[in-house]
Parts: sequence; C-alpha cells; structure tokens
Amino acid sequence: MCGIVGYIGPKPAAPLMVEGLSKLEYRGYDSAGIAILEDHQIEIIKRKGRLAELVSALEAQDLTGKVGIGHTRWATHGKPSHENAHPHYDCSKSFAVVHNGIIENYQEIKKKLIAEGHKFISETDTEVLAHLVEKHYKGDLLQTVHHVIGLIDGAYAMAVIAKDEPERIVCVRKDSPLVVGLGEGENFLASDIPAILKHTRKVFLLEDGEVATITKDVVEVYQKGEKIDKELFKVTWDAEAAEKGGYPHFMLKEIFEQPRALRATFKGRLNNGAVTLDEMRDIKGLDKINKVYFVACGTAYHAGLVGKDVVENLARIPAEADIASEFRYRDPIIDDKTLVVVISQSGETADTLAAMREAQNKGAQVLAVTNVVGSSVSREADLVIYTWAGPEIAVASTKAYLTQLAAMYLFGLFLAQERGILTPKQTSEITKALRELPGHVETVLEQAGKVERLAHEWAKRENAFFIGRGLDWAVAQEGSLKLKEISYIHAEAYAAGELKHGTLALITEGIPVVALATQGRIYDKTISNIKEVKARGAHVTGLVFEGVDISETVDEVIAIPNTIPLLAPILSVVPLQLLAYYAAIARDSDVDKPRNLAKSVTVE
Ligand code: AGP
Repeated sequence: MCGIVGYIGPKPAAPLMVEGLSKLEYRGYDSAGIAILEDHQIEIIKRKGRLAELVSALEAQDLTGKVGIGHTRWATHGKPSHENAHPHYDCSKSFAVVHNGIIENYQEIKKKLIAEGHKFISETDTEVLAHLVEKHYKGDLLQTVHHVIGLIDGAYAMAVIAKDEPERIVCVRKDSPLVVGLGEGENFLASDIPAILKHTRKVFLLEDGEVATITKDVVEVYQKGEKIDKELFKVTWDAEAAEKGGYPHFMLKEIFEQPRALRATFKGRLNNGAVTLDEMRDIKGLDKINKVYFVACGTAYHAGLVGKDVVENLARIPAEADIASEFRYRDPIIDDKTLVVVISQSGETADTLAAMREAQNKGAQVLAVTNVVGSSVSREADLVIYTWAGPEIAVASTKAYLTQLAAMYLFGLFLAQERGILTPKQTSEITKALRELPGHVETVLEQAGKVERLAHEWAKRENAFFIGRGLDWAVAQEGSLKLKEISYIHAEAYAAGELKHGTLALITEGIPVVALATQGRIYDKTISNIKEVKARGAHVTGLVFEGVDISETVDEVIAIPNTIPLLAPILSVVPLQLLAYYAAIARDSDVDKPRNLAKSVTVE
C-alpha cells in the first residue's frame, strides 16, 4: 500500500518527511517523493526506487520550507517510474497532491480535463486529483477538496497543499487509512501511526468521509461539510507494534486484513450481477480455449487447485493445476488453444517464471494473477489480473492467497459469462454471494478465540492431518502447509477417500485431524471417512457450514457462514490460518519469519 506523510510547523519539513516515509517502508513501495512549500512556491522532489534514491536527490537541494507532504508509492495504475511517483502537480504547479487508493472513474475525468486543456504527465489515477483541485479552486482549499471528493469514486486517502495557502494542509480519508498527529505548535499527517510516533502519541484517526484542515496550531475535522468534535486517540503501542497496527505479528494483522483485501479485489469487478474484467479484454480466441493450466508454487499452487475446480465447474473447460517446478520439465501438452494461468503473490518466483516462459515458448497464452504491479510475471504475461491485497509482509501467505481465490472466482465466472455457459440469473446469484464473502470472513474471524484454544492442544502434538474431498481437499492442502511452515508441526493433507489406501496406518490415539465437510454432495462420504479416523482414536475437528449438525461425529466443530459450496474455500481456509498462527505462537516459532523460508523464492 502507498504511504502518506505531512508536516506543518516551525521546523524544516523535508527531513521530517523522509523520516516519516522511512517508517512506512514496511508497507512496500516502488518510488518515493516529497513536496515542500516555501516562499509561495511548491518544490517536488521524487524518485523511482528506494527511499535512499530520494535522500540522495535531496542532498543536492536546500529545502527549508516548513510545510510538506510526502509519499511512498505501491504502483497500481501506471508502472513504477519517476513520472508516476507522487506527489503530483497541477498544470500551474500551484498545488501538490499525494494519494493512497484507487480513483475508479479517473479515466473519464482525465479525458474531460484533457479536453479542457489540462496537460498530464503521468499514467496515474492520482494526477487527476491535482488537476481537479486546480480547476475548481476559488481561493479556499478546504472548500475545493470538499467539492472534488464529490466528483470521484473509489478508495482514497489524499493530502493537498496550495502555494497560495502556505499555512495549511488539507486531507481526506475514504477507505484508505489516514491519521493526524497533534504536536505542540506543529502537526503531522500519515497513513499509519509509525510515521509520527516519534513526535506525538496524540492522534485523530480519520474515519471515512472525514476531511481535515491542518495548520501548525489547529486541526479541524469535517464530516459531510460539518465541523465535528474529533475524539483524541492516545497511542500506547511501541514503534514496532505500531507497524503491525497494534497486532503482535504481521501475519495476524494480514489475516484480519482479509475482509478489506477481498473488498479491494472485488471492487469495480462485480457490477450489476455480472463480472467486469477489463484486464481480459485482449484475450485471444476466448471461444476456442480448450485447456486451462493453473501453474504456481506453494500457497499460490493451492489457489490454482481451487481455480481448476472453479473453471471446470463454471466454464466447463478442462483444467489442471500444476506445481511450477514440475510443469516446466514435464513437456506439457500445449498449443494456441491453451491458456496458462500463473499465480504468484510476489510475481518473482523463479520456478513460476520459468514455467510461464516454457508455456509461452510452446505457444500458450499466459494470464498472470499477481499482487505486485510491475513484477516480472506482470511484465511478461499476455494478460494480468491484479489482486489488491496490499503488501504482504509475513512469509506465510494469507491475504494474498484469499485474494488469489477471489481472482479464481472472477476469472472462472468471466469465462462462463463470456462463453454463455451461465445464464445472467446464475451469474447474478454467484456475484451476489461473492459480494457477501468479506462480511462472512469477518464472522469467521470472530471465532479466533475458539480456534486459539484448539491450537493450544494442537501445539502439543508433532503430527496432524487435514482431510477433505474436492474443494475441501484443496483447502486442506493449504491448511497443512500453513501449519507446517510456521509451527513446524508435521502435517499431511489427504483426500479423505484415499486414507484407507495406506495413510490410515498413521492414525493413532489422539492425533489431531481437521475434517473439512462443506461440499454437500459428497458430505456423507466425508462423514464415513471421519468415522474411519475416529474409530482409530483421532481427535477430529469438523469444519462445516452453520446449521450442519456434525457434533455427534466429531470432537470439535468450527462452523462457517453459509454460502454457495463452490465459494466455501474463501471461508474455510480462515480458521486453518488462525489454527496455524496460534499453534506457532504456542510453540514460540518466529511466525513472520519462519526458519529456512523466504517471502519470495527467486532461486530455483
Ligand atoms: C506461502 O505461505 C509460502 N510462503 C510459499 O509457499 C509461497 O506461496 C510460494 O513461495 C509462492 O510464492 P509467490 O506466490 O510469491 O509466487
């Protein structure tokens, strides 16, 4: 996610901007910049790359201005580049804007502004904000910002300075976080508390729709144009905890960010009961595609397992899921009617990149599903669907995986819709259920305490099993990997129907087993498999939809909100993420940086 900082007070703003941005580096970024206001002029210095690039550029400057805004950019619209870095000027360099989020209607706004003579430099959605402020400014920046936010759709945290109003910064928050730090004779602005914690622990946490005007002595907050009395929030966290938003680990923060990540990934793609995937407009021979391969590694591969079922179920196209390091050497059968979907959070995984190139060499069209704009897979693939999970810091993938699943559903539904396999009514039912998922995930997260208690029992064990059939088996594999990679408990994910062909021999008294049973049409079969392991002494936790009474058959029950069985993976994986997390905590593992592992495996 992008990072925003701002300062107004008696000190030079530039060094404070850089210091604040350095505290936001954990959010991930690909460029950085600041705008400093002095002598009624706005000076913008920005650079592609790391913050160090900006720092060395600033060494050549003598910026003493005491009002400034700054930004670290996590590219969404427009590749990482100097031109696309924030802040952005208007035509007359009378204003500077920084922004975190997505302006959904920026293209139509940009077209109109260009027709009115505005000159754009970047590919970003953000730049339209600077020109809108320029167009509508009539001498009051606060009033102008109120007017401009009425013209834009989307998610935004935005800060603006005006050369003719050197005594204030105006900012607004909608869906992207923004806090105002209150100092003595100085005030601060940031996307997140860590950036200002060194200077103040008194903050206003802006809520959606709130606009703030900040001078060095006074902060006023408005909601729907009316000034409000804002409650002061006293920060008690230390700096490290602040980066984690008060959570003890990035992994737990990212697990709880999943509803927001899902909403961000679905935003603008589920309209009027249909799927809108502009990214797929250049797909070739959509009606001739007769094979889809999902190719990835680790957790991303587990998303591909779900993708396979989704595409076969909805679009009725033969599909396979392949581990990238296997796919690339098995001489896969590929031609120009093959679509290969590579899935990669980082977009830099060596095996996945190699598999993608192998597929392209054999004539396949390649779609990349990735969380990083400008990553290698996004640059080399023919098509890209971005997940909008925001930077994922913990090595163990959670919110990126969940948004990969969201992308699988969007993609499968798109294929079915475009090939006329589903009626508009069927598509509408599924899109309605997809829109409900973020709220359902929030409901599942409310069971964290129950899962934590279960995890404390699991933490005492050295082996565990995850079993299920169909999509439940796909999720079982992700649950097993989560547990292994952070708690170091050995776990097996097994197709429930396959246990009796050998692995049942490993089921001993008290061994913990999670049995996923969300797929109604094979529920009875799974119940039989649960009885098999129960009969041999396993301690079984059943994972079912609310209202399914499995309590007589298992020892513990985790219930997830009802949804279309095809969509169950998005809900059933969340308790398994929590189970792994709490088991790892109970075993004093290094949850965010587990032994032997890297966040992005860029070597084969
Ligand atoms: C996820 O929990 C693991 N850390 C790992 O399996 C990861 O999913 C895999 O390395 C693929 O990474 P990518 O999505 O960045 O390609």
